[in-house]
Amino acid sequence: MNELLVRFATWLDGFEASTALHESIYMYSWIETTHVLTLMVFLGMLMIIDLRVLGVAFADIPAPRIAAALDKPMVIGFVVMVITGFILFFAIPVRTTNSIWFRFKVVLLIAAGINAWLFRRRIRALEHTLPERGPMPTSLRKGAALSLAFWAGVVVFGRAIAYDWFDCHKDLTPFMSWLAGCVELP
Ligand code: HEM
Repeated sequence: MNELLVRFATWLDGFEASTALHESIYMYSWIETTHVLTLMVFLGMLMIIDLRVLGVAFADIPAPRIAAALDKPMVIGFVVMVITGFILFFAIPVRTTNSIWFRFKVVLLIAAGINAWLFRRRIRALEHTLPERGPMPTSLRKGAALSLAFWAGVVVFGRAIAYDWFDCHKDLTPFMSWLAGCVELP
């Protein structure tokens, strides 16, 4: 599996556009800045919805009304983050593929995605029985707490990608080398 991932990343690295982006004076920074700034839109809205479901904030406003009002900007923010994220990956594909922080981030992104899907399904199923004020059903509060934990992890691991503590050129243990996917292609 590691060899397949590194082969794919090496193939992407062969594109002129990938090198041009990585070596660009401004473009890479602008895309990364957009990736970071969109956090406020995406995670800012998501956190308000999750904190409402947990009953920690805006407990006097019906949760479905908050979710309905913030859903569109949240989804737009999410789409921009995913697009800019893939462009950042395309610019430095091999090093990013071999970053344990990026790998942990992808695992948490998938977990956060599955949790969001289950959460939305549960909200739709309970929509007509949800209380207008106060705490939400336990199943929804668990989903909101997991959501906050997963996305906090995505942010921390996203930030850690910039640090080369466990990059393949370092003196890694066999386990860390496997985790980072350090393979020599024939
Ligand atoms: C949608 C949810 C996402 C969130 C909340 C998120 C969050 C972050 C954060 C906080 C950083 C650190 C930025 C910094 O301080 O330098 C980051 C960096 C990064 N993200 Fe994301 N990200 C998301 C999706 C993605 C996706 C889908 C990819 C690629 C498939 C991606 C690829 C990257 C890369 C390569 C970096 C490192 C940039 C660098 O250090 O030069 N991100 N992300």
